[in-house]
Amino acid sequence: MADPLTPVLTKRWLSPNSWRLSTYERLEGYTALRKALRGTPEQLVQLVKDSGLRGRGGAGFPAGLKWSFMPPNEDKPHYLVINADEGEPGTCKDIPLMMADPHSLIEGCVIASYAMRSHHCFIYVRGEALHCFRRLNSAVREAYAAGYLGKNILGTGYDLDITVHAGAGAYICGEETALLDSLEGRRGQPRLKPPFPAAAGLYAKPTTVNNVETIASVPFIVNAGSDWFRAMGREKSPGPKIYSISGHVERPGQYEAPLGTTLRELLELCGGMKDGIPLKFWTPGGSSTPLFTVEHLDVPLDFEGAAEAGSMLGTTAVQVFNETVSVPWAVMKWTKFYKHESCGKCTPCREGTYWLDQILARMVDGRGTEEDIDTLLDLCDNIFGRSFCALADGAVSPIVSGIKYFRDEFLALCETNKAGGERKSELVGA
Ligand code: NAI
Repeated sequence: MADPLTPVLTKRWLSPNSWRLSTYERLEGYTALRKALRGTPEQLVQLVKDSGLRGRGGAGFPAGLKWSFMPPNEDKPHYLVINADEGEPGTCKDIPLMMADPHSLIEGCVIASYAMRSHHCFIYVRGEALHCFRRLNSAVREAYAAGYLGKNILGTGYDLDITVHAGAGAYICGEETALLDSLEGRRGQPRLKPPFPAAAGLYAKPTTVNNVETIASVPFIVNAGSDWFRAMGREKSPGPKIYSISGHVERPGQYEAPLGTTLRELLELCGGMKDGIPLKFWTPGGSSTPLFTVEHLDVPLDFEGAAEAGSMLGTTAVQVFNETVSVPWAVMKWTKFYKHESCGKCTPCREGTYWLDQILARMVDGRGTEEDIDTLLDLCDNIFGRSFCALADGAVSPIVSGIKYFRDEFLALCETNKAGGERKSELVGA
């Protein structure tokens, strides 16, 4: 069993000039690429399948299986697209990874593109992260100059170009098909699936869209093997994971740990609750995943563990809230975000998030009634599973789970209204 605290993806982050090619090469960088290019694409796809690597963007789709959907020939162009549009509230793992160790992503891109017989890879970076866009571009230039990109990579006859593309700051463009529309120069809005990008993606050609952390894991798997990878984490969710921890903890930040680590263990790593004020609620994987409470401190945070306990692993964005925070207030803040970011293409999301926000704002302002709680749940029921993409499902998650675990707080707001008492200033607490 691998030492659970031995860093993998983050192992170079604290080295001086960790983002430079010279540092990367000194610390085993691009050795996996040399090894990978000596094998066949089929062997690489099999290796990634054997490793059990699952998508790190939130959904956990098996990476090797996704790669295997790509055509086994080069009759028409096909593409690898990296989803670096990290935008889920609380999620902060891909941007730090690209800032600290951009070459691990680039090396992973070349290996994955070779495995999928692609000759053009796009990295779609979140528009607001201009610093990250610049750092990636400078790393890509270094890789071209050193012969890791471009024509005849390392003398093997394999060609690959990478284009780094900056989005324009829309959360929806993290949804893979909206991202593809945006990359094609259109307004980013989700497409209906199927067809999945593997069948018709960028420019209607076979495309694999993978998250940054997924692809950055690949060089490690190539170098150390699938058994090594499987020795970390849990049987169906193997490997290391970067948990981004924010909120009321002593030392917020990125913590790498094997999948299946619990919040209790993560809190030990990040110094515990800030000022010792007790935990009240938290998100296991960003605000699109149903809330957890103190009851869930020992839930293993892997794809199955989080789901069995009634939530989702999502992006492993652990947002921690202490007892001073009003749940309806926090839920209202997230709802405002989803309302603002809804692309408006489908009615349940466009209209639904608007009404959720209206009702929650009214309640938090002390003007709600008990009926509003039922109306909220009814609206959520009508939105969930009825929209083009996962944005609307994400929007209802904190509301439904917030009411499930903290109904009393929502009811108390209605009581405040009945009594004509204090309004929102009393609640904002945090
Ligand atoms: P999904 O389950 O629809 O798809 C996951 C991946 O598997 C996609 O690449 C899809 O193309 C592929 N796929 C699924 N079924 C397939 C099939 N039958 N054939 C071929 N390919 C198939 O999930 P989605 O909507 O892509 O992602 C939802 C997740 O995104 C949520 O769980 C949420 O946690 C996460 N998310 C992440 C954000 C971030 O900033 N990283 C932002 C918002 C949400």
